[in-house]
Amino acid sequence: MNTGKRVLLIIGGGIAAYKCHELIRLMRKAGIAVTPVLTGAAQEFVTPLSISALAEERVYTDLFDLTDEAEMGHIQLSRVADLVVVAPATASLMARMAQGHADDLATTLLLATDTPVLIAPAMNVRMWDHAATKRNLATLTGDGVRVVGPNEGDMACGEFGFGRMAEPQEILDAVLRQLAGGGPLAGKRVLVTSGPTHEPIDPVRYIANRSSGAQGAAIAAALRDLGAEVLMVSGPATAPLPGGVEVIPVETAEEMMAAVQGALPADAAVFAAAVADWRVENSVGSKIKKDGSGIIPPLTLAENPDILKTISHLRDGRRPGLVVGFAAETDDVIANAIAKRLRKGCDWIVANDVSPGTGIMGGAENAVTLITGEGSEAWPRMGKAEVATRLAARIAEALA
Ligand code: C5P
Repeated sequence: MNTGKRVLLIIGGGIAAYKCHELIRLMRKAGIAVTPVLTGAAQEFVTPLSISALAEERVYTDLFDLTDEAEMGHIQLSRVADLVVVAPATASLMARMAQGHADDLATTLLLATDTPVLIAPAMNVRMWDHAATKRNLATLTGDGVRVVGPNEGDMACGEFGFGRMAEPQEILDAVLRQLAGGGPLAGKRVLVTSGPTHEPIDPVRYIANRSSGAQGAAIAAALRDLGAEVLMVSGPATAPLPGGVEVIPVETAEEMMAAVQGALPADAAVFAAAVADWRVENSVGSKIKKDGSGIIPPLTLAENPDILKTISHLRDGRRPGLVVGFAAETDDVIANAIAKRLRKGCDWIVANDVSPGTGIMGGAENAVTLITGEGSEAWPRMGKAEVATRLAARIAEALA
């Protein structure tokens, strides 16, 4: 995967610099190119060689390296990226940024750049709490600098408190949010339901379905990449959850309904979850025993709330501007999906054939037909990520 995005990663001189190895690995995995810059102090903690090997790029360290100036001057270097990330942002680096110093390569790039800047502060708790750091932080955020972390926890210096650098995954999530910021869905809030639901029989048993949550996760990621603020209400999915997306985990259909209602208003909502149609009405709070009598406990089922239908019928501005449902069918897919769109009251239905032979449910590919008020459009079989990208683009067009 290649997002075509580049991060200029400025690594400051603190013990948390070691976490940049993992951060670079995560960014590369997410398809983001990384241009690393090490301050002089950072080179006491990590080596240019290890950073360069992980980034698969050369590392910049010295403002007065004439080869650099010949190949790429510092002004140009400050503009190569879509985002500048400073991690760890030490107390000293934050102070010099706030003051507008330009006395080494890192601070010169930070002063010269017109690219958004995200910092991940990391320092001793007393330094973080110091009035000077607070002033510097206020100056930096006032200048438009974005901040991720720090977190509370044990520190390398043996103390406990705020000052631990955010974990690499959290920084990646913040990076993804920043990188997506300028897309066609910027400023739009989109809700996505995803995954199966689990309907308990007793504390250890439940009724479920084969949904992996892969299609919902891909849709959430694609909407995020177009700049949307994405809120994902996810049942117990087996597919990995996307970064840069707010996730509300739920287990049952009733919990999903409550989470969705609590998440409104939204500009659009995509209901990709495979919600269980029924829950076990006579579920119990302690494990049902197999007592040897041969009596099989009867399960009484009750109908779950239809989340898609309920949200589609909301009024008074509570209804999202665009409501998209899914129709997973095994027979008469299109005819059933067209009828379902009307019955549910949603704007679009994404219909797919989940017959056992298709390998779609729980698989990597999907073959869908998009049904709108204007008609139906069959898309060729493609990866779930591609279905998601196409759908997100259509949603962006509709909300434009
Ligand atoms: O009725 P059926 O389950 O086939 O409808 C599928 C669509 O309705 C999907 O978009 C699914 O997320 C949504 N749905 C729902 N709540 C339910 C059942 C389905 O939101 N209880």
